[in-house]
Amino acid sequence: MDVIPLGAGFGAELRGVSMIDVASDHAAYLAVRAAFEEHSIVLLRDQHIEDDIQVAFSRAFGPLERSKVGSLGQGSFYGRVTNMNAEGKPVPPDHRQIQVARANQLWHTDSSFIATPAMASVLSARIIPPTGGETEFTSTRLAWERLSPDRQAQLRDLTVSHSYANSRDQIHPELMTPEQREAMPAVRWRMTWRNPVNGRRALYIASHAGSIEGMGDNEGKALLAELMAEATAPGRTYEHTWRAGDVVMWDNRATMHRGRPFPLDQVRSMIRTTISATDEAGLDAVRPDRARQAA
Ligand code: SIN
Repeated sequence: MDVIPLGAGFGAELRGVSMIDVASDHAAYLAVRAAFEEHSIVLLRDQHIEDDIQVAFSRAFGPLERSKVGSLGQGSFYGRVTNMNAEGKPVPPDHRQIQVARANQLWHTDSSFIATPAMASVLSARIIPPTGGETEFTSTRLAWERLSPDRQAQLRDLTVSHSYANSRDQIHPELMTPEQREAMPAVRWRMTWRNPVNGRRALYIASHAGSIEGMGDNEGKALLAELMAEATAPGRTYEHTWRAGDVVMWDNRATMHRGRPFPLDQVRSMIRTTISATDEAGLDAVRPDRARQAA
């Protein structure tokens, strides 16, 4: 397997390995897993993409998350990120799916708003629009490492509240259904997630993060906005332009990402599988009540 850096200081393309290799050969899995832990984003090109293959690949890395209540494909392992209707056409601009796409264009880290957040996500492009529709990433590990030791000491053990409502309400007050509000109350995580394999810490924030314990609402939001602006400043991101056969896997513990706009009269259709965090992936240490001992 060749590891080719993507050029932003994080992320790498892996050549000479396929999703099927990872699903069927433990040595291939270990090689890709090591690259994932080190580079935070791995890109596999020219893949034979089918739902079952994507699930088998993803499952090698850990337990799979089921799509959340009220989402397309609810309850299945396949999260559909699409503006396509049942006839294969783009939905109209006032459709709920367009608001969902706009929410997807906020910087986020997947599933930080549920009790078992996502360690990793695997995204494959099924229909790519002729322009736009890229996925942009930034490293919250590098963002953390750029902070001074004093600043790190101030921030490391802060507790942050994450909720789906915090991101959805930025788009439209009714984007979340009452059923979703009921099913997804806010959860609390410490502000940093330490990777147990290499000991490197990363900021664990993004658009689901809405407040910081011990700070007033404005102060907490201002600090989150400042950290996000620093992490996503020009020159610090990698924008992936999709090609047929591409599969990208990212580490939600150490990155943020966002979908980019595309012409609404074109179809963009992606399938995401999501791998839940476990204690082996450092989940226990990010729980605020147990954080200090585990740090
Ligand atoms: C996602 O956030 O899961 C998908 C990102 C994208 O649509 O590019």
